[in-house]
Amino acid sequence: MNKTFQKHFKDTLAELKEQGLYNSNIRSLGSPQGAWLNIGGKKVLNMCSNNYLGLANDERLKQAAKAAIDEFGIGPGAVRSIAGTMDLHGQLEDLIARFKKAEAVITLQSGFQANTTVIPLLAGKNDTIISDQLNHASIIDGVRLSGCKNKKIYKHSDMKDLERCLQEDRPGRTLIITDGVFSMDGDIANLPGIVELAEKYDAAVMVDDAHGEGVLGRGGRGIVDHFHLHGRVDVEVGTFSKAIGTVGGCVAGSKELIDYIKQRGRPFLFSSATTPPDVAATIKSFEILMESDELVQRLWSNGEFFKKKMKELGFDTGHSETPITPIMIGSAAEASKMSKDLFEEGIFATSIGFPTVPKGQARIRVMISAAHSIEDLVFAVEKFAAVGRKLGLIK
Ligand SMILES: Cc1ncc(COP(=O)(O)O)c(C=O)c1O
Repeated sequence: MNKTFQKHFKDTLAELKEQGLYNSNIRSLGSPQGAWLNIGGKKVLNMCSNNYLGLANDERLKQAAKAAIDEFGIGPGAVRSIAGTMDLHGQLEDLIARFKKAEAVITLQSGFQANTTVIPLLAGKNDTIISDQLNHASIIDGVRLSGCKNKKIYKHSDMKDLERCLQEDRPGRTLIITDGVFSMDGDIANLPGIVELAEKYDAAVMVDDAHGEGVLGRGGRGIVDHFHLHGRVDVEVGTFSKAIGTVGGCVAGSKELIDYIKQRGRPFLFSSATTPPDVAATIKSFEILMESDELVQRLWSNGEFFKKKMKELGFDTGHSETPITPIMIGSAAEASKMSKDLFEEGIFATSIGFPTVPKGQARIRVMISAAHSIEDLVFAVEKFAAVGRKLGLIK
């Protein structure tokens, strides 16, 4: 390694360590995603995966993936526009379009890729992008990639501030972007308010529904369905890595938009597609959601049970409106200590600090899943209570 680069890495890593921001604790799992995990030979309750519906290790998905390997093999072989689109990709896109009541859908390699693909196509350097202050990193990177010179950030979920941005000088086309569910706090975007303002000021709306798909709306159809806004939201981005239980991302919108992505979307044109087993498992997952809302209901009742118990204990659970349950701690060092102590007690719940959340707002973010049983959640509450008391966070 070049010495100047090496020094840069060493110095930056040392700085991170000094500031308590160095992540030395990336756990390696020796078991599938599920309610319980094996980590280094220790059985721990999983409270930090985005596997909302428990589908990541579902037998039906595994069978679908195995059958797809037999029929289509493993690799896509090329980028999709050359020779890497298989029948499965088209089937999945049609299925998601029906599920979301969207005109058309395109799948991409991940939710991150979906954002960095579509945002630069929606707005260029002479257009205007207005983005929520707490939007996900992949939206921020998508905006950077667009080269847009007229970026405006509105205060989190603040419709007055959004309107102020809309009233300012707005060169070119205007795009408003929001997360659907904000992943670190669990609150839901005021999509009806955003759509109303967009219609008033002639702007387009894009929502990243990564944490709303499989969670919000009828049978997990997402935030647009939750607020009955079909036909009024221009672009919906989704990911399969959370409730859907697999990997991949998608963009739903008008036929022209999806066609445009196929002609101009750089990650579509220059990076190979998700693999046949991934796509087949994703199809199965959407089929399961279309058959029954049982898993979605269980997710919500588990979330409500856990949140209620934690509040009763005196924990600050922020302002979540979804099964995402942040346990607000404040100091990154304390949150990290809590996470370590919980792990000793058999609970895997990672602490989250800067830069993922603002400085001074470190937390343990608990992700509830339909895979948890009530006994699992009672066990978790007992352990949080014991550790919280030991650290003086609750009485
Ligand atoms: C709001 C949001 N968008 C996009 C992503 C990225 O999704 P993926 O893991 O599929 O790249 C995430 C995942 O962390 C997310 O929370």
